Amino acid sequence: MKVIAITGKGGTGKTVMTAMFIRSLVNRDKTILAIDADPDTNLPEALGDEVEETVGDQREFLMEERDNLPPDTDKERLLESKIYSVLAERHGYDLLVMGRPEGAGCYCFANNMLRGIMDRIVKNYDLTIIDTAAGLEHLSRGIIRDVDELVVVTDGSRRGLMTAERIRDLVKELNLKIRKMHVILNKVTPQNRERLNEYAQELGLEVAGMVPFDEEIARFDLDGRPLIELPDTSPAVIEMENIIIKLGI
Ligand SMILES: Nc1ncnc2c1ncn2[C@@H]1O[C@H](COP(=O)(O)OP(=O)(O)OP(=O)(O)O)[C@@H](O)[C@H]1O
Ligand SMILES: [Mg+2]
Repeated sequence: MKVIAITGKGGTGKTVMTAMFIRSLVNRDKTILAIDADPDTNLPEALGDEVEETVGDQREFLMEERDNLPPDTDKERLLESKIYSVLAERHGYDLLVMGRPEGAGCYCFANNMLRGIMDRIVKNYDLTIIDTAAGLEHLSRGIIRDVDELVVVTDGSRRGLMTAERIRDLVKELNLKIRKMHVILNKVTPQNRERLNEYAQELGLEVAGMVPFDEEIARFDLDGRPLIELPDTSPAVIEMENIIIKLGI
C-alpha cells in the first residue's frame, strides 16, 4: 500500500501529472485508486472519463440517514458503503471523485469524508494517487496527513521552488506523517534545467524530474482529448517514466 498526493499552486500541472502517473502505471499489475480531491473536478476529463456521482452528492442522503437511523446502526459501515457506491471501476484503476456538496457552504463534508477514505479505503489498494486542490489547505487542515510520497508540482521558476520550500516547512511544522517529498518541475525549458537543479539543491529539495513544456499536451488540452491517449513518444510521458523509476513506484 502506497499513497501519493499531488500538491502545488494553481495551474502548475497537478491534474496533468496525476493523469500521466495513472497512464504510465495502469498496466503494471497493481491495484490503483485515483482520487480527485479538487472540488473543481478535473481529473475525470483528463482521464477521458465521466463520473455520474461524487462523494459530495452523498451529503444530503447521509444527513437524512443520520437523523433517522436506529441508534445501534454502524454509521462507519454505512459511510463506507456509500463511498463504495460512488467508486467508479475503470480499466486498470478505480476512480473516486470527491466533488463538492450542492449549494452554498463550506467543503467540510467532502474534507471529512476524504479523511475517512484515507483511513479506511486506501488500504485495499496497492497504490493511491490523489489530485488535490490548489494551495495548502489539504495540508494545513490535516486532510492529507498520512502519505508515503508528497509530490509538489511547480512551474520551472525560482519562485516555484520557493513555494515547494514553504510546503516542506509547513509539513514539518504541522508534524504531518509524510514520509517523502519530491518536487516535479513542470513546463521547464531546456536552457533552465541546470540552474533549476542547482537552486533546488541549495534549498535542499529533492527533484523527481523536470517535465518539459509539451506541445502535444497543449494540443490534447485544446482538442479536449484525454491525456491517457498521449503517445509513448511524448516528451512529457518519457520524463514521467523516469520519475516513476526515481520515486520507486
Ligand atoms: N508539461 C506541459 N506541457 C504543456 N502544457 C501543460 C503541461 N502541464 C500542464 N499543462 C497545461 O497547463 C494547464 C494547467 O494544467 P493542470 O490543469 O494540470 O493544472 P492544475 O495544477 O491541476 O490546475 P488547478 O490548480 O486549477 O487544479 C492545462 O491547460 C494543461 O494542459
Ligand atoms: Mg487540477
